[in-house]
Amino acid sequence: AKSLRTLEADYVDYECDGGATAAAKNQWFFEVAWEVANKVGGIYTVIKTKAATTVDELGEQYCLIGPYNEACVKTEVEVMEPYNEAMQRSLSQMRDHGIKVVFGRWLIDGYPKVVLFDIGSAAWKLDEWKKQLWEASHIGVPWHDRESNDALIFGYLTTWFLSEFRKNLPGEPNVVAHFHEWLAGIGLVACRTTHLDVSTIFTTHATLLGRYLCAGNADFYNHLDQEKLGGEFDKDKEAGDRGIYHRYCIERAAVHCAHVFTTVSDITGLEAEHLLSRKPDMITPNGLNVVKFSALHEFQNLHAMAKEKIHDFVRGHFYGGHYDFALDKTLYFFIAGRYEFSNKGADMFIESLARLNHYLKKAESDVTVVAFLIFPARTNNFNVESLRGQAICKQLKQTVSSIQKDIGHRLYEIAMRGKIPGGEDLLTKEDVVKLKRCIFSSQRSSLPPICTHNVIDDSSDPVLNNLRSCQLFNQRYDRVKVIFHPEFLNSTNPLFGMDYDEFVRGCHLGVFPSYYEPWGYTPAECTVMGIPSVTTNLSGFGCFMQQHIADPASYGIYIVDRRYKGPDESCNQLAQMMFDFSCLSRRQRIIQRNRTERLSELLDWKNLGLYYRKARNLALHRTHPELFREDVSAELIMPKSHSVPPSPSVSRSSTPLPSDNEEDDEVDSEDEREQLSIRPLTPTSQ
Ligand code: UDP
Ligand code: G6P
Ligand code: GLC
Repeated sequence: AKSLRTLEADYVDYECDGGATAAAKNQWFFEVAWEVANKVGGIYTVIKTKAATTVDELGEQYCLIGPYNEACVKTEVEVMEPYNEAMQRSLSQMRDHGIKVVFGRWLIDGYPKVVLFDIGSAAWKLDEWKKQLWEASHIGVPWHDRESNDALIFGYLTTWFLSEFRKNLPGEPNVVAHFHEWLAGIGLVACRTTHLDVSTIFTTHATLLGRYLCAGNADFYNHLDQEKLGGEFDKDKEAGDRGIYHRYCIERAAVHCAHVFTTVSDITGLEAEHLLSRKPDMITPNGLNVVKFSALHEFQNLHAMAKEKIHDFVRGHFYGGHYDFALDKTLYFFIAGRYEFSNKGADMFIESLARLNHYLKKAESDVTVVAFLIFPARTNNFNVESLRGQAICKQLKQTVSSIQKDIGHRLYEIAMRGKIPGGEDLLTKEDVVKLKRCIFSSQRSSLPPICTHNVIDDSSDPVLNNLRSCQLFNQRYDRVKVIFHPEFLNSTNPLFGMDYDEFVRGCHLGVFPSYYEPWGYTPAECTVMGIPSVTTNLSGFGCFMQQHIADPASYGIYIVDRRYKGPDESCNQLAQMMFDFSCLSRRQRIIQRNRTERLSELLDWKNLGLYYRKARNLALHRTHPELFREDVSAELIMPKSHSVPPSPSVSRSSTPLPSDNEEDDEVDSEDEREQLSIRPLTPTSQ
């Protein structure tokens, strides 16, 4: 019947027509992930930042599916009832069975539709679905693994919904469902094992086994290169030993059931090929929703403003005589992410900071580096010392401002009487006493703390222990000071009062020397904010930049070699990079930030969304070759140059050189404005 519908195969070119083409063709697109309106890590960032571009392309034909997380829904979702009849009917059919499902609009750019399932409301179906999964795939999910049980319920709810929705649609629709990561994978497996006519895509953002093996002591990448897996690593056994055999099976099943399989980077593609035995059909690199300011240098002003707030924190943290370094000569470095100590390269960062400390001391540098480590750990709130520092700072500020007001008043009174004010009229004895009281009360006998919170597992915490063993204790003579903030930042934070984005803007360098990082949003986010960052050639983002930019370092993307170097050598490389960065003048840093920010276009979903379109086309083609032609377009994109001509990559210096015009602080010289040496993105579909 289908082949009668259209005789000529169709190539769907989703112009940004708000879904008009897709609607006319009765095509529907779902994206399914555990992190839809539910913030955990980077997958949330993928879905959230991509929404605007996808809605531009697919409009009302597009909908996201995720779990219902009350806290997130309250703040991020506008709950409503659907106007689309098929959607309405499908939801009420499920509700009739006691399933709690919320429909609404996610309050983010693009304002996409979301369907969110309350996992608990379907708990009574758990055993029945476990049996179904076992019968269909021989995957058994143990009772004690809460996360897998949730994934199972989420999966079957998704399939149930897609099946109802499809049935409720008029005519002969084409439905594409794109599933992200193993937690959403059971939905895909169930779609296939129940023979639902849905074209499926599976994207993995990491492999379970890869993450676990890297977090252990495995020499992971050398094994991959040598294709010794299966020989050296027995995948089933490795998964079993770590208690994740069933999860690994779910992931593998989703990968193999998918009509189209994608990963976020080549390096994860390679990993998937070995650990999951399927080469991805294409790479779908992660983008960001890039916001351009009308004033070209606005991001520089934002940096200066945000840095002031960090200065405020630092003054308070190092109160009592330890604030003896010039803020004008202080650089803020940071690392942040989920607390996967060695996978995220926190071990390497700390060791390299210790080496940097030594280099700076030896060079008698007047630069101070304050390094922030932001990883959420279990805590009993902020510690007294940190709060006290900020309170003292605040009190002194208030005292000074009240004295200042009094002085102003006095000067005015005296001048009005025609007299010239003298020294005594400015600062009275009482004022001096007030100030002395503040200064004396800010004495401290301890060093400024290396951590802002009381960490519950203080004695076994890896960041704290590594800082201790590297003797990074914020001594006066240390040129590198460290601050571990074991909680994600938000604007209600009593110490910083900034959210993460603002904090990043105020820093000088993000340092992410990851060992296991399928993509790595944190350095990408730095880039679009014009903040230079360090990444590695083991991170998807680092490899992507290396592939597309001739000399990444000259654009403020420093890539540590962790693939072909030993850990000690990589540490030296990182320490040297940080030292070189600390030797840049302010002007050089400004130029560097300008260059970094120009790479934004490379990371914009407006460009990278193409790969998701390709994946959807391929899935439609594979399921309905008679209806959809294969997308063979071999273009595309890359950012337009800012000026001509491009400089040969080899001629570029990694260190930004100041222009002749020292007055010209914010705007680059012609040389700085030259074209980016960016290599075109070529489709990676195989
Ligand atoms: N992030 C955050 N607050 C913080 C630190 C990080 O919201 O204090 C976010 C960050 O913006 C990024 C995500 O957490 O989007 C981490 O994603 P990434 O891809 O770097 O790593 P993942 O956690 O997915 O492994
Ligand atoms: C931005 C601001 C400048 C400021 C500079 C500080 O470029 O627009 O006014 O001087 O930041 O740079 P720095 O690297 O020292 O934080
Ligand atoms: C995963 C990876 C991270 C990636 C994110 C989004 O959580 O750990 O590297 O950036 O997914 O793809």
